[in-house]
Amino acid sequence: MAKIITVGSVNMDLVLHSKRMPVPGETIKADNFYTNPGGKGANQAVAIAKLGGKSIFLARTGDDGYGSELASALKKYGVDTSCVKTTKDCCSGIAVITVAADGENSITIAGGANDRLSPQDVDDIEDNIASADAVMMQLEVPIDTIKRAIQLAKKHNKLTILDPTPVPADGIPDDLFRVDIFSPNKSETEMITGIPVKTDNDIKKSCDFIFSKGAKQIVMKLGSEGALIASASGNLKHIPAFKVKPIDTTAAGDCFTAAMTLSFIETGSIEQAVQFACAAGALTVTAKGAQQSIPNRKDVEEFLKKQ
Ligand code: RIB
Repeated sequence: MAKIITVGSVNMDLVLHSKRMPVPGETIKADNFYTNPGGKGANQAVAIAKLGGKSIFLARTGDDGYGSELASALKKYGVDTSCVKTTKDCCSGIAVITVAADGENSITIAGGANDRLSPQDVDDIEDNIASADAVMMQLEVPIDTIKRAIQLAKKHNKLTILDPTPVPADGIPDDLFRVDIFSPNKSETEMITGIPVKTDNDIKKSCDFIFSKGAKQIVMKLGSEGALIASASGNLKHIPAFKVKPIDTTAAGDCFTAAMTLSFIETGSIEQAVQFACAAGALTVTAKGAQQSIPNRKDVEEFLKKQ
């Protein structure tokens, strides 16, 4: 069974469903409100477990009520939480999410304990990293922590996957590009490269920029348009999306990255992995919420058979 370590965030999501997004300065009424466990790192870790991998999660919760709820949810979904630490006198990460009727969302996060995940925390799990197949990361925790995770993963020749979200205000430091699979979405690509992505030529220029920084392979998530696989040799391959009715896009990108990572380890084929990830991501948008909307392995396999 593929063993994947996720280094990242865990948040309690405070979710509002409304007909549309408010514009700046406007107050609107939501149709529905609920809380559910999320966080880009936790969603990825849950996706690995639900899709059939061995999932180990390095993260920090606060010592508030949300912290224990978040840890219980991870356990319920089969994630190994032995590396999830409780941070004293600190609140857990929070995400305030508005979901509009077309399924699109907007998210504001308060890092809380996620901001305390340190390079030392990564050093503390070096043995685990040494026995894993891959280390998967995003950017809702301190950049130095992610740098350390990449260093240690490379020291032990492990596959490194970075979903560069959210893009830091001062850009992505060079060390973070040097991973095996760099997987931004379209708007993140634009923020990272400064190139608006409208034409095939823009895509090529953006990928050239990312490769020039040291990424080995790029998988660009294009939402309802599928995904693009770019290799340093200049090859571009578009994998189309599966058509589904979107209810809530929250966690779809997280599930995509995890599914791609797991399937790539299992099959060794990036095309097969991205196809599997497109299916897992598509199913995620057909249900509300974050971790609970991520499909099981059986659901994805049945969905793929029907296509
Ligand atoms: O990617 C979705 C996630 O982003 C949410 O679960 C929220 O917690 C934020 O981290």
